[in-house]
Amino acid sequence: MRIVVKNSSEEAADFSAEFMVQSIRGQSDITLGLATGSSPVRTYEKLIERHKNNDVSFKSVTTFNLDEYLGLTGDHPQSYRFFMNEKLFNHIDIDFSNTHIPNGSSPTPVQACNDYESLIQQKGGIDLQLLGIGRNGHIGFNEPTSSLTSRTRVKTLTKDTVEANQHNFTEEEYQPHLAMTMGIGTIMEARQILLLATGEGKAQAIRDMVEGPLAAKCPASMLQMHMNATIVIDRDAAKLLEDVSFYEYIEQERQQLMSR
Ligand code: GLP
Repeated sequence: MRIVVKNSSEEAADFSAEFMVQSIRGQSDITLGLATGSSPVRTYEKLIERHKNNDVSFKSVTTFNLDEYLGLTGDHPQSYRFFMNEKLFNHIDIDFSNTHIPNGSSPTPVQACNDYESLIQQKGGIDLQLLGIGRNGHIGFNEPTSSLTSRTRVKTLTKDTVEANQHNFTEEEYQPHLAMTMGIGTIMEARQILLLATGEGKAQAIRDMVEGPLAAKCPASMLQMHMNATIVIDRDAAKLLEDVSFYEYIEQERQQLMSR
């Protein structure tokens, strides 16, 4: 794992936006895996800015989102389809038919998950997967004890996750307790992974993921097995890591090597 510790959440967003822009420039027909939640919002804002400055085009980019609430249609303000349109897709030059999100209102969700999985394969797999992390170490909606080789499927959310995401829903709004999510096995097949986390609330999950044992109790710990995973965090999220100075030292060495 490459661990990049930034001084602020703003710098972490700068890093991830730059990382994504470089990847898109390097491969204009790239397939991106995208995430929702508050973590990537600033990164998306920066991508929109870069696009408006003619710095990057999404014309040939394909996207697959990690997950969607089961039971919400794409026009529901709390659906992840709505989120992605609002926070990114409506503001860039992407072809909407190349943007994919599990269909939360499918009458046959199990089949829809299998079809989603097949579509990812058909399109040649994911080149770069952007991830956030839940406070309990989940990635996508793969909650603790999820199979570490799981594929896209329907998952029950933990009470913790439902509570953590409650602030997005008004009192009258139905908050789903089920979701469709790429599996950990699906995520692990992405050729590159970029996980972004900021704030003290994520510190324990980051520690478990980076320095803890490989365990289904912390689904993100499976990323220890990925050959090309970059973890970008701010100081608050890095708070519980044992050896931040070592990670910083490696980064410095890396910068020196790159500038040679
Ligand atoms: C949700 C999403 C995850 C996301 C997580 C963290 O549960 N399914 O993909 O990483 O929340 O959200 P936030 O970035 O808001 O902390």
